[in-house]
Amino acid sequence: MGEPTNVAVEASGISKSFGGVLALDTVNLELRKGEVHALLGENGAGKTTLSNILAGLYRADGGTLVVDGVECEFHSPSQAIEAGVGMVHQHFRLVPPMTVAENLHLGSPDTPAVISQKKLVASARRMMEEIGLEVDPTARVWQLSVGEQQRVEILRVLARGARVLILDEPTAVLTAQEAKELFVVIRRLVASGRTVVFISHKLNEVIEISDRITVLRGGKHVVTKDAAGATPRELARLMTGEDLDYAVEHREVGLSVVLRLNDVSARNHRGIEALHGVNLEVRAGEVLGIAGVSGNGQTELSEVITGLRRANAGTITIDGVDVTHASTRDIAELGVGHIPEDRIGMGMAGSQSVKDNAILRHYRSEELSTRMRLKRGNVVEFAKRLVAAGRVQTRSINMPAGQMSGGNQQRLVAKRESMISDRLLVAAHPTRGLDVLATKEVQTAIIERRDSGCGVLMISDDLDEVMLMSDRIAVMYEGRVMGIFDRAEFDRERIGLLMGGSGHRLLPQ
Ligand SMILES: Nc1ncnc2c1ncn2[C@@H]1O[C@H](COP(=O)(O)OP(=O)(O)O)[C@@H](O)[C@H]1O
Ligand SMILES: [Mg+2]
Repeated sequence: MGEPTNVAVEASGISKSFGGVLALDTVNLELRKGEVHALLGENGAGKTTLSNILAGLYRADGGTLVVDGVECEFHSPSQAIEAGVGMVHQHFRLVPPMTVAENLHLGSPDTPAVISQKKLVASARRMMEEIGLEVDPTARVWQLSVGEQQRVEILRVLARGARVLILDEPTAVLTAQEAKELFVVIRRLVASGRTVVFISHKLNEVIEISDRITVLRGGKHVVTKDAAGATPRELARLMTGEDLDYAVEHREVGLSVVLRLNDVSARNHRGIEALHGVNLEVRAGEVLGIAGVSGNGQTELSEVITGLRRANAGTITIDGVDVTHASTRDIAELGVGHIPEDRIGMGMAGSQSVKDNAILRHYRSEELSTRMRLKRGNVVEFAKRLVAAGRVQTRSINMPAGQMSGGNQQRLVAKRESMISDRLLVAAHPTRGLDVLATKEVQTAIIERRDSGCGVLMISDDLDEVMLMSDRIAVMYEGRVMGIFDRAEFDRERIGLLMGGSGHRLLPQ
């Protein structure tokens, strides 16, 4: 003690259980000054629990915590922050009707009970300048984007003197652009000697932003290592304990066309044209990846194909059948499945049972119904089969589907839609929000469909995923197809530029 050291926090032998569940089992963690330290792990690994202990929200059952050379025992978040450790939670704790300046001073012991708005704003400005992070202090929180709200949360913690800032899955709620901006902020914070704990299960971003990485699995510390030189595959193995094969095989694709869009235009829900003269083909047995930043017409594209949205110009055919004005049901009956972007809203009826959701697309089949009524026994059998095949973890097929975890809801929809996709599967962000193992499962299911001769149109804003999965890639920007690439021509930089609207538009001959 007393010696200057570069260790900010030393947690040793931390254990914590909830009821019978051992969430953390004698975990060690050393955080240095001036580093971004990632906590990486699958859902349930213990990342949030460990952070909550560091930030004074939970008390450990065992272990010791040394902050800046002093052994501490926190009984509240205020004590932790006084010692210099603060946390930004997954769900923000701001007060929406209040201004940014008011939120920044909320709960701060230095703020007098009565104070003029003008003074608050001035002091918020000073604070932002010192920290190098700006948000309009007079704006009300509900008016801010999610990225800006997150900045306010970060400011609030820093304003109270935190030298160690814990960010729990901060990018889960951000767009790709906002995540980039957050990374700039994080770099600035560690450059000033602070420590940032960055929690995520996204491998690429962890490698990009952190100096060191600690991997947790099932509540245990697996390893702490330098981020430099770490590979996604290695980290995935450490997180899951399984050596997954990430490679996807790509073969020559035949010429048989399943889906064709000819000069298709469509408006978005605000009535503004969101697709402009789109020409595309999806062939049997291929994954056509749609690369693009979210909000460039991809949602509208998936909706016009599946009958959820009307095209206002152009034609769409599936196996040569004109479906431009067909209903969702008619399109589904041609063998078209749809994993929608908004699974909870559009893919499922959350208040209905798992069973009812499982048969949603099949109940008219002879297997499940006569003209008059459902065949109950077969329905139960069918639902159980789907749940097992999709590895949906559910207590009962009779429980409301909306009560399952998001990952399991997603598995249910993905399996159900894959089952009806004899010809075409339209998959919008099929792995968004999933952890490594679940992602791998969904990707494997898509590739299996492809290999059985189904055409797949896969939309994703994760360029790594698009490059991994696709046999061809179409890039969308502002409602237009900017270029179409065969696998041999995949070029990350060129595709990235087109996604941002720069670079030449490349159209197929
Ligand atoms: N407040 C709580 N009550 C009961 N169990 C909890 C609580 N918080 C976490 N757990 C359990 O502890 C384990 C670790 O969870 P968590 O720390 O949230 O993991 P992660 O953040 O890595 O996804 C899980 O099994 C989870 O269900
Ligand atoms: Mg968590």
